[in-house]
Amino acid sequence: MARILGIETSCDETAAAIVDDRTEVLSSVIASQIEVHRAYGGVVPEIAARHHVEAISPVVRRALDDAGCTFDSIDAVAVTSGPGLIGCLLVGISAAKAIAWSRRLPLLAVNHLEGHVRSAFIEQPQIEYPALALVVSGGHTALYLCPEEGVYRTLAKTRDDAAGEAFDKVAKLLGLGYPGGPVIERISRGADANAFELPQAQMKDGSLDFSFSGLKSAVRRLVQDEGLVDAGADGEVPQRARDLAASFQKSVIRVLVKRTLRISRRESVRSVLVTGGVACNGALRAAFEEAVSREDLSLYIPAPRYTTDNAAMIAAAGFLHLDRGAHAGLDLNADAAMKL
Ligand code: KG4
Ligand code: ZN
Repeated sequence: MARILGIETSCDETAAAIVDDRTEVLSSVIASQIEVHRAYGGVVPEIAARHHVEAISPVVRRALDDAGCTFDSIDAVAVTSGPGLIGCLLVGISAAKAIAWSRRLPLLAVNHLEGHVRSAFIEQPQIEYPALALVVSGGHTALYLCPEEGVYRTLAKTRDDAAGEAFDKVAKLLGLGYPGGPVIERISRGADANAFELPQAQMKDGSLDFSFSGLKSAVRRLVQDEGLVDAGADGEVPQRARDLAASFQKSVIRVLVKRTLRISRRESVRSVLVTGGVACNGALRAAFEEAVSREDLSLYIPAPRYTTDNAAMIAAAGFLHLDRGAHAGLDLNADAAMKL
């Protein structure tokens, strides 16, 4: 049985976790910088990197304390090496290297997207292959076919905005602050999702890739035409803005569900995994559950604490690298545009 310390600093969460035996999470600490970036309406890379520098040591210390262990009982250190913000990634990588070097531990370089896919296995280690994994977050929207453990084939990805990014931008237009996903979800509850006819978030050329920029532009035009710019800035959100948010959310969910199910049938997969920050969305979860109930498929959506960025998923993915003996060297570098 092995024990891995995971470290994640690719965006605006400084996170560390201790995971035993692949999926037993002993601790998972997340220091979020949302409050810091809220004033700017989005993540400011330089500020994020500086906050990671301040937070990383206390966060790692807390993860060890919460797990009731010390560096002596760790068998390897897994760290996100990309994709993400370069200055942010480097903070986690430097910390992981220092720990690995001083304790003579294997260093494991984990792709953040592999971490999101593996997040589904934390609570459900017995997921059957072949599986189709949707990663839907603030930086990524992609579908990966996993024919077996540790193998990922990209079947579709976004050509422009990620789904979470579209939520964030629509929220910004309506003056609802950052991050957009949770507030759009909240104001959409009980609103009329059929009030606005919005374009499907998909490619015109028939490709299976996603595209959210047309939808976003349509929402922007409606926000202007209806006089809803910054409509929610002082607390009370007008009904028309709530209906627009609900219509937007429905349009995003519809394309994600339809595309995922279409590819799952084509590839005859046994399992569908929905991961990443947007998978927190209750309406999205319900839509997937409803759609999958009519198929011969198992659906896995992690608990919200494992869908948004966290280090437990990085440690969990690290076990696959440890099993293969795929150790990184101390010359490990960050790769901001790393592919899965
Ligand atoms: O996975 P994540 O924490 O970070 C990235 O790797 O990007 O995802 C963050 C994204 C943000 O765009 C945020 O607006 C979105 O996830 N998000 C949501 C919800 N909660 C977070 N989107 C829709 N509904 C939510 N409830
Ligand atoms: Zn992420």
